[in-house]
Amino acid sequence: MIPSYRGILTALCAFVTTVWAVHPVVVQGKDFIDSVTKQRFQIIGVDYQPGGSSAFNDSSDPLSDKASCLRDAALMQRLGVNTIRVYNLAPDANHDDCASIFNAAGIYMILDVNSPLPNGSLDRTAPWESYNPTYLERVFRVVEAFKNYPNTLAFFAGNEVINEDSVEQVPAYIRAVQRDLKDYIAKHVSRSIPVGYSAADVRDILMDTANYLSCQIQNETSSRSDFFGLNSYSWCGDSSYTTSGYDVLTESFANASLPVFFSEYGCNKVQPRIFTEVQALYGQDMTQALSGGLVYEWTQEANGYGLIQLNDNNTVTLRVDYGNLQKQYSQLDLSQIESANATQTSVTPVKCSASLITTSGFLNTFDIPSQLPNITTLIDNGPSNANTGKLDSVSSTPVSQTVYDSNGETIQGITLNVLADDKTNSPGDNTSGNSSSSTSTATPSASSSSKKSAANTQASSTLLTAFGAILALAGSIVW
Ligand SMILES: *[C@@H]1O[C@H](CO)[C@@H](O)[C@H](O)[C@H]1NC(C)=O
Ligand SMILES: *[C@@H]1O[C@H](CO)[C@@H](O)[C@H](O)[C@H]1NC(C)=O
Ligand SMILES: *[C@@H]1O[C@H](CO)[C@@H](O)[C@H](O)[C@H]1NC(C)=O
Ligand SMILES: *[C@@H]1O[C@H](CO)[C@@H](O)[C@H](O)[C@H]1NC(C)=O
Ligand SMILES: *[C@@H]1O[C@H](CO)[C@@H](O)[C@H](O)[C@H]1NC(C)=O
Ligand SMILES: *[C@@H]1O[C@H](CO)[C@@H](O)[C@H](O)[C@H]1NC(C)=O
Ligand SMILES: *[C@@H]1O[C@H](CO)[C@@H](O)[C@H](O)[C@H]1NC(C)=O
Ligand SMILES: *[C@@H]1O[C@H](CO)[C@@H](O)[C@H](O)[C@H]1NC(C)=O
Ligand SMILES: *[C@@H]1O[C@H](CO)[C@@H](O)[C@H](O)[C@H]1NC(C)=O
Repeated sequence: MIPSYRGILTALCAFVTTVWAVHPVVVQGKDFIDSVTKQRFQIIGVDYQPGGSSAFNDSSDPLSDKASCLRDAALMQRLGVNTIRVYNLAPDANHDDCASIFNAAGIYMILDVNSPLPNGSLDRTAPWESYNPTYLERVFRVVEAFKNYPNTLAFFAGNEVINEDSVEQVPAYIRAVQRDLKDYIAKHVSRSIPVGYSAADVRDILMDTANYLSCQIQNETSSRSDFFGLNSYSWCGDSSYTTSGYDVLTESFANASLPVFFSEYGCNKVQPRIFTEVQALYGQDMTQALSGGLVYEWTQEANGYGLIQLNDNNTVTLRVDYGNLQKQYSQLDLSQIESANATQTSVTPVKCSASLITTSGFLNTFDIPSQLPNITTLIDNGPSNANTGKLDSVSSTPVSQTVYDSNGETIQGITLNVLADDKTNSPGDNTSGNSSSSTSTATPSASSSSKKSAANTQASSTLLTAFGAILALAGSIVW
């Protein structure tokens, strides 16, 4: 297809005047939904915290280093992910470059509001001490930092706070933090960014945890979780739907009243990882109950879960796990997993009652700690001198670092590819590098795209390639 000159001009004007951004994602019933297309959104993601929590401090976090974000976003495009989760964030750092890069790459962000620093999270042994305005002020600063990016998908109010060591009152305090966060968002953000919790897979209390956080307290709207994340490592090596217990999880969450997803998965007891669980997770049965998941984790750290290895000489090696995961992703039937289902989007919350809780010793009353007056004041006024982020312009850019495959061979042509407006990254596109890159001089080889979803996406990337030269001349894309 050769677009007419007039067509090019019209489309180019549209590119320049509209905001070049992904569509915000909303919660409807038990699904995530693209707020514009109304298609179901399934998380195809990775957990992203290079260096782990020890590399984190209040001036530097994974979304404050432009060069790393550019490299990683390009490699994630190639892998096929549409979402990252970041655990520790410095609210006063500048995230505009990184958030804009991930947005341009069609990748959403799920952000934890907590940090390992003092007053940075709830203390599971004494939550009443850590539930204080100093902690909440930090939480609200994280919201300020990320609230204006369209690819901010959600906030985690807590991660694995409930475990074998936590005291009985912890679930009520998690709801208190969720309430304060949601009250803050309602007052200070133009869209309702979802808020939820990420649970450890302690099977005995898993359903109690999910039920406690997802039920509706009478006459109170804000303390309920909008979604539920589960950190699950029960599928190891070439396991199966039943051996892994995925069948039980699917059944348990089939009637959930909110989106449920794996906030971490990818057992590494058998190495290299082959990720056969990907076919189960996004397959016909499980996709009804879960909204996808995030593979733990992007970089290789001491605990050995990395998809890529950052080398000391500023090069990157894609581990065997990266290639294995890419192969699994490329076999997914996207049109099936993106189809919204009216039954699923219309479910309503269950009313909270003691009968929802089955384990003795698990909190079964729903008296949520009241909002301290000094926290209410903070919600009304907002934190002082908050750092509020905004999108910047991004152009398609080749990655400057050398990238090796798992055999040590250099891979050429890895490029951050600015996607067409509104487009989300997806597996099988090879959006990075060779295919459909707007700065690449090479034409994609006979468009052997393996994309399985709607044909119009194919058309829009052809269009993008056609405009590549013009856009490159313009130097950058105006938001
Ligand atoms: C913060 O962490 C970054 C990256 O780990 C490091 O380069 C920097 O020196 C640290 N800054 C402070 C103030 O500790
Ligand atoms: C945490 O915040 C409280 C006030 O809300 C303060 O009294 C306490 O000293 C802080 N703790 C640390 C370790 O900074
Ligand atoms: C809930 O709100 C209604 C209407 O405002 C009120 O009549 C009722 O007493 C409230 N119930 C509780 C349990 O607070
Ligand atoms: C889910 O709900 C359906 C319809 O209400 C019911 O038949 C089924 O037993 C429920 N499943 C579970 C595991 O509760
Ligand atoms: C819609 O969702 C319901 C409940 O999860 C499920 O039983 C049904 O098979 C789904 N329908 C389609 C067409 O996927
Ligand atoms: C960089 O380090 C990696 C890993 O140690 C090594 O394989 C590669 O050859 C090095 N590259 C250069 C240019 O030194
Ligand atoms: C916030 O209010 C609570 C109770 O009203 C009080 O105990 C606490 O000291 C106050 N904290 C600060 C930092 O003002
Ligand atoms: C691009 O294509 C070349 C040759 O077909 C291949 O060697 C290279 O790995 C490809 N690059 C990417 C990023 O897929
Ligand atoms: C996408 O990339 C993978 C890995 O480099 C390669 O095997 C595959 O042929 C590529 N597909 C297309 C359509 O370019």
